[in-house]
Amino acid sequence: MTEPRMLSGDRPTGRLHLGHYVGSLANRIRLHRSYQSYFIIADLHMLTTRNTREDIAATAGLARDMVLDSLAAGLEPEHSVFYLQSAIPEVAEISVLIQSLITVPRLERVPSLKEMARAAGIGEMPYALLGYPVLQAADILGIRADAVPVGRDNAPHVEIAREVARRFNHLYGPTLPVPALVPAATPSLVGTDGRGKMSKTAGNAIYLSDSADEVRRKVARMYTDPQRVRVDMPGTVEGNPVFAYHDEFNGDRAEVAALKRRYLAGTVGDVEVKERLAAAVNRFLDPMRERRARFEASGGLVEDLIVTGTRRARREVQRTVTDMRRAMGLTAVFSQLREGAHRADGAHRADGAHPAGHARQISGADGI
Ligand code: TRP
Repeated sequence: MTEPRMLSGDRPTGRLHLGHYVGSLANRIRLHRSYQSYFIIADLHMLTTRNTREDIAATAGLARDMVLDSLAAGLEPEHSVFYLQSAIPEVAEISVLIQSLITVPRLERVPSLKEMARAAGIGEMPYALLGYPVLQAADILGIRADAVPVGRDNAPHVEIAREVARRFNHLYGPTLPVPALVPAATPSLVGTDGRGKMSKTAGNAIYLSDSADEVRRKVARMYTDPQRVRVDMPGTVEGNPVFAYHDEFNGDRAEVAALKRRYLAGTVGDVEVKERLAAAVNRFLDPMRERRARFEASGGLVEDLIVTGTRRARREVQRTVTDMRRAMGLTAVFSQLREGAHRADGAHRADGAHPAGHARQISGADGI
């Protein structure tokens, strides 16, 4: 029996923050040793909203940061295959092969796409952005992932991958595993400004790579209960971002319970609640800081993991494309034509070359 596979990953658009951690990183770390785990650096997905030469030139550095953040957070290199999406052209090929299995209205109903267009300041939906979930399905099906841990925004994309897999298997025979969504335990983490989810663009993020001082500064400025203007006033815990973070990151449950009690009773100041939160977040991030320093010290390791991982992932995706082309009957189409071409005599040969040589020249890995 082979180990089940997992795929997850991110676009290389910036450093990972606490929102990424609760959204999918925590699940990745928890599960990655029990799966063959693949982690995509989805630079083709990045192109759907950022495609200038400068955006693309920044990818290598951002990819390195992202993998370093993941390793610091707890993914073990010996259990993780990191790969660069754009270095595997067969992913794009799969995307084309599955395009007919999903409708435009179905894609138009995916809420994250409009949200991404809006966030990027794009007025009309680019074709590539509408196809974002199709490309993601190509990633998932290409790796033949059984499990896909993602945050809430990405859950509908995994659903599309499931629909595509089922339709493919129905039309062409059982070929692709139907991937399972692994949902986040926390739906999404609110930003430090309390105005919506944590994101780089909103400038309300605490990064896994922030120093202890940066964490203290960001927490001190956090949005809290605005009604509470004096320390002796009872405050609101429910929906208060400071307490949402205590719940998520403060391992000292007794301290959290006591702080909530005192806050509701008006016997603790916001300063103390925040100082304790900053200390808790730093306790949470300290082991990451240590691991980061270790990985940073072994020069070239991160790049080597990505290059080796990309080669390995590419072999997997190539195998899948071959299986898909066979199942669909595309392989047979060209071999029929090739057999016909073999029968052509010298006078009718288009390029005057030896037919066998010609066939060899154009044949791919699959003997197409
Ligand atoms: N869409 C993911 C994001 O929001 C990145 C991604 C691309 C992905 N392909 C994937 C995630 C496959 C999980 C599986 O950045």
